[in-house]
Amino acid sequence: MSERKVYTDYFFDEPAYNTHDGGFVPLEEPKTPQQPLKIPELLKPDKETDTDMYYTVIAQTGEAQLMPGKKTKTWGYNTDLLGKTILFKKGKMIHITLKNELPELTTFHWHGLNVPGPITDGGCHAPVYPGESTQIDFKCDQVAATLWLHAHPCPATAEHVWKGLATAVVVKDDVEAALPFPRNYGVDDIPVILQDRRFHEDNQWDYMADYDPDGVQGPTAMINGTINPYFDVTTQRLRLRFLDGANRREWRLHFSDNLKFTQIASDGGILPEPVDFTHLMLTCAERAEVIVDFGQYKPGDEVTLFCDDVPIMRFRIHEFAPDNTTLPDHLVDIPDPDVTPGAPVHKVVMSGMDEEVMMNGKKFDMQRIDDKQKLGNVEYWDISNTNDMSNGMVHPYHMHGTQFRVVSRNGHAPYPNENGLKDTVGVNPGETVRLKVWFNHLGVFMNHCHIIEHEDGGMMAQFEVYDPDHPKQYKLMDMDTLMNAFAKERGVKVEDLNIPGMDM
Ligand code: C2O
Ligand code: CU
Ligand code: CU
Repeated sequence: MSERKVYTDYFFDEPAYNTHDGGFVPLEEPKTPQQPLKIPELLKPDKETDTDMYYTVIAQTGEAQLMPGKKTKTWGYNTDLLGKTILFKKGKMIHITLKNELPELTTFHWHGLNVPGPITDGGCHAPVYPGESTQIDFKCDQVAATLWLHAHPCPATAEHVWKGLATAVVVKDDVEAALPFPRNYGVDDIPVILQDRRFHEDNQWDYMADYDPDGVQGPTAMINGTINPYFDVTTQRLRLRFLDGANRREWRLHFSDNLKFTQIASDGGILPEPVDFTHLMLTCAERAEVIVDFGQYKPGDEVTLFCDDVPIMRFRIHEFAPDNTTLPDHLVDIPDPDVTPGAPVHKVVMSGMDEEVMMNGKKFDMQRIDDKQKLGNVEYWDISNTNDMSNGMVHPYHMHGTQFRVVSRNGHAPYPNENGLKDTVGVNPGETVRLKVWFNHLGVFMNHCHIIEHEDGGMMAQFEVYDPDHPKQYKLMDMDTLMNAFAKERGVKVEDLNIPGMDM
């Protein structure tokens, strides 16, 4: 076993961190008492056979005790806030009843899941109206990974996620099961959903009051829906499934004592090789599974996780059995198909800030197909960010319906933890990131910046994955239908509707 290099920087361009933007809201350490980290329950299947899994996912309103005093009004999946963790097993047919018990329409988007678009994928074309339910069925045919479910009803995606509609989705397979990773859910394998909120009067959230077209932020870190959390460590090694579930915040994570940790998986699955570092930056929607080894600590010690310089979570060390498991240098083989000869190179340009955000010089239009790729082809997509370094942002670029490879950044090698499957990639100002992209399913899919207010504000496009021998017609949603429905459900006239993203 060779000694692996330990990286000590965040890889991204420092002048582009969101901390440099005038509207940045720094995190503050909460003054409220520490609370045990909430571990989302696993969603129980309605039924499971050797070949099929059946679930019911309910979007519902609720309230959560987040701060001392009044409870906060929240939304969630099958629970008050966020959701239960949904488990899929590779190779099984999945059947999900999607139920909307909210007062308004929403959609159920499976971020990172390779399923047909646009309905199963659950973007803006697949609204489920209040009081109604629909059913989706698909085969889980991708490798073990941490994915997520979130609402995607354009142009109110940001508001729905802010209210709490986001939850972890875990895909399991035999390859993952054979690797020496911790996997006892809730004990040594936990989701860590990173978000931030501002608490207003009576401990309530007020999306409109906090609105910023470059992304809504709050000064208080919220992890798995817990304010000021601690976690009781009872095993030497702990697997954290980090998900940046914030609307806009980048998380620059590091532990006290500069404790080294090891990334084993990125958005779409296990990395080819483990990557060791002391610092990790996640942009919106990205996931990183890491293993932290607490072997140097003894019962009673406390290890702190920081974002920038603010403590966001404590790990209280208890008695644990010694564990000297080492990770192999090679974990899995990552598909790297050759680019189809003669295939076009797609260009995506993310430009602007605030209300001026655009993709390829246009605002999103749900009736317009902006690009096409043939099913089975492997093609390059060049994603550029034309912001300048002094007043721009890292735009996290996301594509539905695929797990892609990151080929290069401005012609240079991608970051060391980008050698696996990804569905979201942070693009620095002035940078072009080359991706290698292929699809397993037909459909109309969206691609966008995952700062959710940028996406709602129009830094979004859509493309069709097609089969020339079997052309398909899609019934695409239109903005008027959605706006009229929102207006009716909220009991206001369309012209009085207040959804910031609608002015795009
Ligand atoms: Cu997390 Cu359009 O997606
Ligand atoms: Cu997505
Ligand atoms: Cu953006």
